[in-house]
Amino acid sequence: PLRIAVFASGSGSNFEAIAEAVKAERLDASIELLVCDRPEAKVVERVREAGVPVHLFRPKDYPDREAYEREILEQLRAKGVELVVLAGYMRILTNVLVDAFWGRMINIHPSLLPSFPGLHAVRQALEHGVKVTGITVHLVDGGLDSGPILAQRALDIRPKDTEETLGERIHPLEHELYPQVIQDIAAGRIDLERYTNTKPKDGIHS
Ligand code: GAR
Repeated sequence: PLRIAVFASGSGSNFEAIAEAVKAERLDASIELLVCDRPEAKVVERVREAGVPVHLFRPKDYPDREAYEREILEQLRAKGVELVVLAGYMRILTNVLVDAFWGRMINIHPSLLPSFPGLHAVRQALEHGVKVTGITVHLVDGGLDSGPILAQRALDIRPKDTEETLGERIHPLEHELYPQVIQDIAAGRIDLERYTNTKPKDGIHS
């Protein structure tokens, strides 16, 4: 199995979808670690139920982002993690993790990137008035929701959609696509090797 770590800050519904796919043997991976920067987040309850080891931390206990990322990196190495999966981890990463895991770290975002990066992507799409939106899985570089795109799914926006109703249709799409993409990586159908010998782009926000 592909050894993965999941990073999450919030409700953890994507973490759960991945854990369920592993359990159902649709995904040939083992979740070695969950990393969470908000010890009060709902994902922490879910992860305890799933019996996955957790690394919880509070960013303000560290002098800078590099300091807590170095600690995380040590754990990822100790556990032999091969792929880092960001699932609602709401922090920009520094070069400590980006460089160490370039080509081996993915993120999911609730818009058709490069449209609407950052916070509240669903709201941004509604405010802009686009008629089609979707979700994107991409490799993580030093930017905000940037990096080479690996997979996308589109969905129509309905005239009466609100942030809530649209979010309710986006979440199930994410839960279906993300485990599939991880399985495609595990099975070699998505080849990440061609990225690992290039260099990540520095993001404007890093
Ligand atoms: C997901 O919709 C994910 O796409 C988004 O956070 C949500 C986490 O939900 N990520 C981003 O916006 C990244 N910029 P979850 O905690 O229920 O998995």
